[in-house]
Amino acid sequence: MALLPPPPGRLFDLGCGTGWTSAFFAQRGYRVVGQDIAPDMILFAERNRERYAAENLELVVGDYEALSGLEPFDCAVFYDSLHHAADERAALAAVYRALRTGGVLITHEPGSGHSTSAGAIHAMRTYGVTEKDMPPAHIKRLCIEIGYSRFEFVPEPGRVIRYAYGVDTKTQQRKKRSWLRRTLRIAGVLREGSLQRAGVCTVTK
Ligand SMILES: C[S@@+](CC[C@H](N)C(=O)[O-])C[C@H]1O[C@@H](n2cnc3c(N)ncnc32)[C@H](O)[C@@H]1O
Repeated sequence: MALLPPPPGRLFDLGCGTGWTSAFFAQRGYRVVGQDIAPDMILFAERNRERYAAENLELVVGDYEALSGLEPFDCAVFYDSLHHAADERAALAAVYRALRTGGVLITHEPGSGHSTSAGAIHAMRTYGVTEKDMPPAHIKRLCIEIGYSRFEFVPEPGRVIRYAYGVDTKTQQRKKRSWLRRTLRIAGVLREGSLQRAGVCTVTK
């Protein structure tokens, strides 16, 4: 939330899935358009809109790689969805056109190594979906080529928590370590650059 322009404003939630982020942003005070290519997902999102009494939330079926004729948005979010794009450059360029000048785009994506993870391979084989690596460096390069500016990066919070406190947010397990070991671990992680592999990217039009 701290990375977004403050509400109220028009927010585009791209690949919104079941709409939990869209409802969350709407409750925060944004006027939200949640979009997904899968009509079934939009049906789920409509249920969540009701469940969470999320006013200011419009839900639409559509392809984020082919946006056109939209009223300008103040901000846009790809939350765990850009890595499914057939052409992520087309998606980022389409959002660039949909933002007002000064508008902000945030991406929260799995980074390097995602496409070869067991979960991604299973999803590709079972559902025929696209699963790509979407590391911050790749997003940055495409965004700069498209014309975005002010690239910022914040490491994926789960990694920071895991390295700093030994808590694995996926398995909900904790490995207790002394402060010395934690400090050494964090120093090692900073040196090898693994915090740069995934996280939240922010760019401005
Ligand atoms: C992993 S889900 C994430 C959904 C949601 N953002 C969340 O965090 O729960 C990815 C979503 O992106 C959608 N998606 C994939 N390609 C898309 C496209 N070209 N245009 C719009 N949505 C797309 C999928 O249908 C799916 O609902």
